[in-house]
Parts: sequence; structure tokens; C-alpha cells
Amino acid sequence: MTFRGIDHVGVGVADMAAALDFYERVGFSTVLFDYTGSVPGPDREARVVMLANPAATPVGPGRIKLVQVLDGDGPPPAPTGGGWGEFGICEICLHARGVEGVHRTLVAAGAENLMEPLAGSTPPNDVTLDIGYVADPWQGKLELIEWTGLWRSLPGPPRAEGVNHVAFGVADMARTRAFYAQLGFTEMLFESTEFFDPMEPWYPGDPPAQHMVLLMAAQGAGMEPVVLDPPGPDLRGEWGHLGPFEFAIGVGSLERGVEQLGEFGIELVGTPVTVDVGGGEWRYAYFRDPDDLYVSLVEARY
Ligand SMILES: [Fe+2]
Repeated sequence: MTFRGIDHVGVGVADMAAALDFYERVGFSTVLFDYTGSVPGPDREARVVMLANPAATPVGPGRIKLVQVLDGDGPPPAPTGGGWGEFGICEICLHARGVEGVHRTLVAAGAENLMEPLAGSTPPNDVTLDIGYVADPWQGKLELIEWTGLWRSLPGPPRAEGVNHVAFGVADMARTRAFYAQLGFTEMLFESTEFFDPMEPWYPGDPPAQHMVLLMAAQGAGMEPVVLDPPGPDLRGEWGHLGPFEFAIGVGSLERGVEQLGEFGIELVGTPVTVDVGGGEWRYAYFRDPDDLYVSLVEARY
């Protein structure tokens, strides 16, 4: 299988030490590599730290990549003026064992409470879940979900696992689904066209209509494209901006992944890159998705 689901989400930070400290409390305590230098593709100088969560399970397998842009004026500011689901990456969802306990722990560690934990279920299959939201200290939205109707976590105390899915705003749901189906996201966990009322306070004005779908690949983390009506402001921002700004799809072989993109007529942005990260290689290639988000294939040799 060429494509292996979402491998990681990239998060722009202004203070790497503070970000590492926060995300270690969230469970991302394993540093896969810590690289400072040029990042071809976006062509920025940056410190890039790839983090894994040792408690990751198949429901929360995704990693987090912290990026601190070092050149120019430093990290671009986070796009502002939206609520959730506008164009750009709008959330990282972590699978959690015991949403309430994890939510409490994160709020105690300095995260802002955005949504009290609640229990619900998703249409059309009534898959039950516990859900809560916090903002990290840099206002990136972190969703916490325990998919109680899909998977009961391993035993133990409350803890966040890895990334379950990444949410992002798109213009055309059918177009996005067709595009990412080619890349292995063929399974649908839920589809909702009902406005999720607890999010209403997040929007600066009248809340838009929401259409969201959770798409899964056979491996890796999932994706949650969202269409808002009206679409709201464009929050894609610059590469490396503060908060979540990109995601990457895992591949076993970058060459094979790039070849397949070519077969599908998907255009690369720049050329495939191999970065020596000391004891390993970080290999990636950016490509153009229908909404011009920052997305890449990544082959993890670290
Ligand atoms: Fe979500």
C-alpha cells in the first residue's frame, strides 16, 4: 500500500522550549528528530522537531511536527478572525483515553478550556464518542476524542494518545473527497450537516452552516474536511505560521508515492527532498491539493 494515512500535523511555534514542554505534557515525549537548518520546499530556515507519543494506538497514530521559523521576521503570525472550519488547518484531534481526565490535566497545564467534555454520537452510524476541546497556549485548537463506539482504549490512567485526525476547511466537499480517495482515504466514519452547537461561541459573527466528514485510510490518522456556508475568511496563512498549518501523508517509499501522484495528475510543489537529520533521513515532497493547503508526502526514516 503506497499511502498510509496522515503521518503528522505541522504546528508553528514561537518558543520551541515552551512548545516542547507543553506537548510533552500532552504525551508527545519521544523526539524522533530535532533539526535546525534550511527546509527546502517552503525554503525557510527553521528548527523542526518531530514528536511521537509512546501511548499512540491505531486510533491515534499520528505525530506532531513543531516548526519554528528562524529567518525573515521569524514565525508568521497565526491567521485570525475565524471560528472553525475556514480555509486552512483548524484543529488537531488527539485520541484520548478518558477525555474528561485529559481535558482537566491540559487545562491545569495552561491550556484554555474551549468546550467542556460531553458525550455524543455521529451520524449516520451512531458511533459514540466523548469529546472536548482546549486551545494550546498559542491558540491552536486541540480536540480530544475517545471513540467509545469504535474502540475502547487500552487500560490505564487518562492520557492523550497520538493524532486521530486533522481538520481543515475546503471549498467543495465532493472534490476533496474524490481527490483524497485516490490517496487512500476511502472510509467514512461520519458525515454531519448539522451545526455543532457547542462551537457557536467560537465564531465572531453569526455561525455558518457546517458540513463535515471524517475520512479514514487503512492506516495512519484520519482527516476531517469541513465546508462552511458562508465560507468565512481565508486562514491558510504562510508556511510555518503559529498554530497548525499543514499535514503530511505517510508513504513507505517517497519515490513510489511521487510516481503515483504523477499517475493521478497531481502536481508536485518543488522537488522531492531528503534532509539528513542526524542518524536518519526526513524525506518529503509537497504537492498541490484542491484548496492549495500545505500538504506533503513523508517517508519517515527516523
Ligand atoms: Fe474533529
